[in-house]
Amino acid sequence: MKHLLKISDLSVDEFNALISLTEKLKNETKKGISHKLLAGKTLGMIFAKSSTRTRVSFEVGMYQLGGMPLFLSSSDIQLGRGESIYDTANVLSRYLDGIMIRTFLQSDVEQLAEYGKVPVINGLTDDHHPCQALADLFTLYEHKNRLKGLKLAYVGDGNNVAHSLAEACALAGMEFCAASPAGYECRADIIEHAKELAKTTDGKITVTNDPEEAVNDADAVYTDTWVSMGQEKEKEERIKVFMPYQVNKKLFSHAKEDAVFLHCLPAYRGFEMTEEIIDSPFSVVFDEAENRLHAQKAVMVSLMS
Ligand code: CP
Ligand code: NVA
Repeated sequence: MKHLLKISDLSVDEFNALISLTEKLKNETKKGISHKLLAGKTLGMIFAKSSTRTRVSFEVGMYQLGGMPLFLSSSDIQLGRGESIYDTANVLSRYLDGIMIRTFLQSDVEQLAEYGKVPVINGLTDDHHPCQALADLFTLYEHKNRLKGLKLAYVGDGNNVAHSLAEACALAGMEFCAASPAGYECRADIIEHAKELAKTTDGKITVTNDPEEAVNDADAVYTDTWVSMGQEKEKEERIKVFMPYQVNKKLFSHAKEDAVFLHCLPAYRGFEMTEEIIDSPFSVVFDEAENRLHAQKAVMVSLMS
């Protein structure tokens, strides 16, 4: 592993190794065992979009590993005023041991990795959110004791989160079914690639416009906001289109009896899911948020130690 730009950059073995390392780091941290595996190292964190979980979990994770995180808002650094990615990558590589970036274009993250000399971690683009999907599947693993053969239903926008989940389910040998309204489906090329990956793991990747079909017999039901960062102007239109895709009691009743509810957060109650779903005993969203910390520590250790 040189970078983490998207989940499908990982081999099945690398994916499984990250899940195992996440489990070990989490369990040992809970027992009070510390891991100063990145002592003396620095991680630059470039943010061109807002963040609560990603920022805090990377900062705390880096501190727990003995290293130092630097928060670099893209509106404060020269990148935001037009300095090139080429120059930024070369300069930052002279100071830092790793770069995490949250931005709009996946191609910007790829260029940063190409031109820089240090590992690059994608902290969310318009197309992918790999750190999220690692934490999500680790959370599912904790609650179900396995991943292979489980069915995850994704209901809502075919966005960054859905793309990374499709790829992660493919690597894990799971069944992934996304239900989105027409015109808001996952990107066809990403789904095709995930289907190819799933052939090697006995996984199954499907998409539909029918939320009940997706949720039917699922072990986990996942949704995300209908209005991602950068889409604020489309809010009214999106709420209309997505309302029939709300995860509520009726829709959830099609899942398995012991199904769990997942959401990357931030969540908007009354829109993509009702309060009775996200605040229910089968909702594992706060475990999932906590697991961002443990999963990203595993990513940083794998790339930077
Ligand atoms: N889930 C997630 O990435 O949250 P933040 O936007 O708060 O980082
Ligand atoms: N799809 C959302 C995820 C936020 C963590 C967005 O891109 O805003």
